[in-house]
Amino acid sequence: MDQEQGFLGVLTSSPFRIAIVYSVVFAFGAVALLGAVYFAVSRVIDGSTDNLIAAEVQGLREQLLVLSRSDFIELVNQRSRDQDVHGAFYLMVDPQLRPVAGNLPAWPKIAAGQGKWFQFTVTVPYGDQTRVHEVRAQRFPLPGGYRMLVGHDVQERQDVKNVMMRGLVAAVVMTMLLGIGGGIWMGRRILAHAGAISAVATQIMRGDLTQRLPVRDAEDELNTLAREINGMLDKIEQLTLGMRTVLDSAAHDLRTPLNRLQSTAESALAHLDPASPERRVLERVTTEVDRMRNTLDALLRIALAETGTVAREAVDLSALVASIVELYAPVTEERGIELGSQVAAGAHIQGSRQLLAQALANLLDNAIKFTPVGGHIRVLLRNESGGPEVVVEDDGPGIPADKRELALGRRVRLDEARKVPGSGLGLSLVAAVTKLHGARLVLTDAGPGLRVALQFAMG
Ligand SMILES: Nc1ncnc2c1ncn2[C@@H]1O[C@H](COP(=O)(O)OP(=O)(O)OP(=O)(O)O)[C@@H](O)[C@H]1O
Ligand SMILES: [Mg+2]
Repeated sequence: MDQEQGFLGVLTSSPFRIAIVYSVVFAFGAVALLGAVYFAVSRVIDGSTDNLIAAEVQGLREQLLVLSRSDFIELVNQRSRDQDVHGAFYLMVDPQLRPVAGNLPAWPKIAAGQGKWFQFTVTVPYGDQTRVHEVRAQRFPLPGGYRMLVGHDVQERQDVKNVMMRGLVAAVVMTMLLGIGGGIWMGRRILAHAGAISAVATQIMRGDLTQRLPVRDAEDELNTLAREINGMLDKIEQLTLGMRTVLDSAAHDLRTPLNRLQSTAESALAHLDPASPERRVLERVTTEVDRMRNTLDALLRIALAETGTVAREAVDLSALVASIVELYAPVTEERGIELGSQVAAGAHIQGSRQLLAQALANLLDNAIKFTPVGGHIRVLLRNESGGPEVVVEDDGPGIPADKRELALGRRVRLDEARKVPGSGLGLSLVAAVTKLHGARLVLTDAGPGLRVALQFAMG
């Protein structure tokens, strides 16, 4: 199957197509050139035999005027025996077409409507065997209803023409075969190089910015391009690392004062009277600080997923999904929501366990947050042949089809979500994490409710 696709790939590659176009052009060139030679040579050899016959006819006609019939018969017989004119044929017949003189056994059948020039075949000895030869001839009437035929064997010239025609066909076939062969060879070479480039590009897109495109010794366009892209990748890696450092230090520099603020507020709270107005103020402060910390963490995680600068490891997706379900079981029970799950064993992918866990947690958070009491949530992990698929579905209000794309955006919260807390970052992290893992995020209607599927590709 792979080989078949590889061969199909060669056939549709641009070098192969260019080679085919060129070989068709060259084949036309060969046909034009050899065709012109063929016709020129044919004309020369045809013309020389015709001249020979015409001259012989002229000579005999002149003899007619001066010779008696018996002398003329003698002359024809003599010419027939003459070895100088190889391949010459003569025949003189009486009014009943009976041969009188010459070296042909019988007057040939001449198709009606033929002029003085015509062609027929004779059987001539050829070693131990015989061969049928083509003869070109001219006829003319003699006095007293007699007739005369002068012809010449043109088999040789036919043979030359046949050889030339065969050469012409062979030249065209060879041009086409060389073109196709060359096209396949070039197509394979370019495809192999392009295949290596696209394999590395896929790894780079999945976040491994240390990868570089393969560069070979040869000085061709693909190598130049690969070298330039590698230069660009160096730059991107540098920028991403720089951004990562800024993000890390910003995270650290913001988290520390927030933590300090939180613990100061909490220790102050411990000393305050439960009914005092200061306590209400401090409680609001701790809630806000908590929200700020969550938002900060969410933003950092999204940035991490989007820049792709995360360590990759083998992740047991089955175990991960099962543990998230387990983690959320008490929360759903507390909220009066039924949580069902169906987790296929043995699903493994390459990726970031931490980000995947966060994405799944976000989906369950949403399902719990938007599903009313008495509702149902189902978590499924299917180990499909094309790759594992994780599904989280609820029977809450769902998201209208035209708003699903929008809901994936950063800081987007739909009108219905105003009643519940949140910063609108949950789904954008899910989107970033799916993209980081080369997976597909599909939001559909669970009728009623929302169904979110993460479809991972194999390998
Ligand atoms: N399971 C769901 N059912 C109905 N609506 C949903 C569901 N999940 C998400 N939404 C809608 O999509 C919006 C975006 O979701 P997202 O998770 O990004 O934000 P959030 O849950 O409001 O805030 P956060 O996740 O940052 O706490 C939500 O505000 C809500 O309107
Ligand atoms: Mg959310």
